[in-house]
Amino acid sequence: MDIVLSGIRPTGQLHLGNYFGALKNFTKMQHEARCFFFIADYHALTTHPDPTMLHDNIRNVLSEYLAAGVDPNVATLYIQSDVPQVTELSLLLSMHAYLGELERTASFKDKARKQPNNVNAGLLCYPVLMAADILLHRANKVPVGKDQGQHLELTRVFARRFNTIYGVDFFPESQAYNFGEELVKIPGLDGSGKMGKSEGNCVYLVDSDEVIRKKVMKAVTDSGPTEPNSPISEPIQNIFTIMESVSAPSTLQYFKDKYASCEIRYGDLKKQLAEDIIASISPIRERIAEIQSNEKYLHEVVCDGAAKARQSADETLRQVREIMGIKHF
Ligand code: TRP
Repeated sequence: MDIVLSGIRPTGQLHLGNYFGALKNFTKMQHEARCFFFIADYHALTTHPDPTMLHDNIRNVLSEYLAAGVDPNVATLYIQSDVPQVTELSLLLSMHAYLGELERTASFKDKARKQPNNVNAGLLCYPVLMAADILLHRANKVPVGKDQGQHLELTRVFARRFNTIYGVDFFPESQAYNFGEELVKIPGLDGSGKMGKSEGNCVYLVDSDEVIRKKVMKAVTDSGPTEPNSPISEPIQNIFTIMESVSAPSTLQYFKDKYASCEIRYGDLKKQLAEDIIASISPIRERIAEIQSNEKYLHEVVCDGAAKARQSADETLRQVREIMGIKHF
């Protein structure tokens, strides 16, 4: 059976892109593979070392995962720092991670440029900790976007190197996984590119109906089709793409036909999109609020998740220590 692992840094609220691009697929995948979903709070510290925000951010993401349908009785849902074994594995892996390869990592160079006053060692070792997250459970499938491709490549380099140095066949070569046919990419409402927090073009799962309507009505469009069957411009295609996830197929077809015949009215299109987004995510928003106020439930979920993850981690560390020659007297 596949072992799937996915991590998310708790740095803010989740948006439509996170939901349709990942979370929704997780709720299905949890029944088809052994799934580990964790909140990467150690990783968040490399860029967001703010003690007043960290816990709330974790609580938000946790509630959002649960509200979206991740079932803690089926998958293992945990917080990274509740499983400190990962730090030991990270340290051990770092003995075979070379400074040059870490310095050359695109994400490191990018972060070093963005936060020149805080080029910390955690940033440099980010890929080692991420490899440790993955190898801790010997996961073979890791659902991540393209931006994480290099981190996955390094994970395989570290795994292979470990196997070669110690003459074992212990760590798998973890592959990035993009859901194949079911991959959904939600574009932003600003006319180009994907929905993303740093792009400032997001509809969040916790946005109120009013906020959703406002954001959608401000979506970038074009000046309208000028002749029948003209090619669809990028901003309009983006709106149609979001509709594929939230609207009935007949609704989408209706607007596509109106576009083709040059009769489309963008005001109507946006109104429809806003209402369909609201209908598809407002039940989740309500569950988020419920779960967030249920301290006891969150406590239970987190404790159970940590226990399950630690069990898997302990078994890996036991074997890694043995392979590396770390023995007790
Ligand atoms: N680096 C990932 C991101 O920024 C988060 C992450 C940390 C992760 N550890 C992981 C993702 C392990 C997958 C597996 O999106």
